[in-house]
Amino acid sequence: MLHQPVLLRESLDLLKVRPGGIYVDATVGTGGHAEEILKRGGRLLGIDRDASALEMAQRRLQSYAGNLKLVQGNFAEIAELHAASGWPAADGILADLGLSSWQLADASRGFSFQLEGPLDMRMDVTQSTTAGDLVNRLPERDLADLIFRLGEERHSRHIARAIVKARPILTTTQLAQVVTRAIPSRAGLHQIHPATRTFMALRLAVNAELDNLAAFLGKVLGVLAPAGRLVIISFHSLEDRMVKQRFAEWRRRGLARILTRRVVRPGEAELRENPRSRSAKLRAAEKSGDW
Ligand SMILES: C[S@@+](CC[C@H](N)C(=O)[O-])C[C@H]1O[C@@H](n2cnc3c(N)ncnc32)[C@H](O)[C@@H]1O
Repeated sequence: MLHQPVLLRESLDLLKVRPGGIYVDATVGTGGHAEEILKRGGRLLGIDRDASALEMAQRRLQSYAGNLKLVQGNFAEIAELHAASGWPAADGILADLGLSSWQLADASRGFSFQLEGPLDMRMDVTQSTTAGDLVNRLPERDLADLIFRLGEERHSRHIARAIVKARPILTTTQLAQVVTRAIPSRAGLHQIHPATRTFMALRLAVNAELDNLAAFLGKVLGVLAPAGRLVIISFHSLEDRMVKQRFAEWRRRGLARILTRRVVRPGEAELRENPRSRSAKLRAAEKSGDW
């Protein structure tokens, strides 16, 4: 199943793709946004941590091979990955954070609490720490802090206690059951599945997603050409806050101007067609022309 690109028109309009321009898709995934950039004549450096994503992107985008380079890597190293491409500074950079639907739908990757699978959650499967390692090895206190901080889960202490009691926990559905039972039943009127926040926290921790975003934001202006544009789509409030604060700092320091005075959200039609877009938030900035 291919991932349906989120906020596609909005991101492409903000990137102002022009034929021959240089673009970096820092999260190429299965190539949804990338394909549109290439269709408009852009040259694209596509990056992803996940080797299987790149294989799919390669197949999908093969007719644009002359304008395309795909590399496996972490966008925390965007400056190094871009330098290695040998291409000039970028006219536009896109980061569409998080997971793609096919990663979630692949039970063997362990991202979904609805599908029985191993507690894995690594985007890059060569990395050593899995979600199972955190769930089965962290001290209760650290587990509670992680679930509270990254999952914004107010029942984190109950959940951590229940996890420690139930160890070893080997599968996604086993963990989902333990979490569901740990949450007081009056909280059962949850709009979201009770395990959502715990799974989110573990995924962010396993993949160091906030640290990677911070490193990316620290380097990305150096990769952009003057007047080059950056578009970031996030799905987590902590990520969006980080982007918003960094953009504000760039504006104060005269390094960039903000193109989205208000965060851009999917419209009703997109929400109907692709309910997974509901938590998407897009922000864009343009590097100042004089440095
Ligand atoms: C939401 S999907 C991107 C979907 C893509 N825009 C499309 O239209 O098909 C996010 C992708 O980013 C990748 N990813 C997440 N964190 C990353 C990181 N730090 N470095 C590189 N890729 C990352 C994931 O493996 C996933 O394939």
